[in-house]
Amino acid sequence: MNRVAIIVGSHRDKSQSLKVGQMVEQKLIAHDACASAVLIDLASLELPFWQENYSEKEQKAIDRTRDLLVNADAFVLVVPEWNGMVPSAMKNLFLLYSANEFAHKPALIASVSAGIGGTYPVTEMRSTTYKNSRICYIPEHLIFRDITTIFNDSDEDDKEAERYMSDRTDFCLDYLTLYSDALKAVRDHGPSNPEFGNGM
Ligand SMILES: Cc1cc2nc3c(=O)[nH]c(=O)nc-3n(C[C@H](O)[C@H](O)[C@H](O)COP(=O)(O)O)c2cc1C
Repeated sequence: MNRVAIIVGSHRDKSQSLKVGQMVEQKLIAHDACASAVLIDLASLELPFWQENYSEKEQKAIDRTRDLLVNADAFVLVVPEWNGMVPSAMKNLFLLYSANEFAHKPALIASVSAGIGGTYPVTEMRSTTYKNSRICYIPEHLIFRDITTIFNDSDEDDKEAERYMSDRTDFCLDYLTLYSDALKAVRDHGPSNPEFGNGM
């Protein structure tokens, strides 16, 4: 059974990404292969930007979130597209935390756009966040486009688009939990060599 952490990368209050994260959380709670789902909303955590020294309050916030990440077997990273980029809070997460929290754990990227964007965060996450963290992005990802028109629990929602994204999310979560089962062996038996502490 898998413990999954959903990380919402928007730092806007009541973001559309949070809405997606909550939908994914409900699906994981009901999933047979999921023991627990925890939602980490970067908008409400008040994590500091990476620096060399932290106040006591900042260090406590960092440590609390570290516990949640270490205890997770798999991740769903919900990432909005902001000016064609991943928001800085999500990139900062990969400075504050790295292999100790993420290594050889599978992650599903779910990007979010109010329009027809959403591709750039997927490529940015895949190309820039894995090297030292050794997080394992699964080949499937999700792009929630026109996000204000779906998952509002309203008759005015685009029901066909919502059904498609709901089914596709189920499909991806089935894969995520299977990868999570499989990668436990890698974490248990993988070689460790202090000379190769970071990716090349
Ligand atoms: C600073 C900023 C920049 C944005 N840039 C883009 C963009 O480049 N492409 C895009 O599709 N949407 C862009 N959006 C709109 C988001 O798609 C929209 O806010 C959506 O709801 C996801 O973000 P949220 O999770 O913060 O709500 C931008 C939004 C903000 C706040």
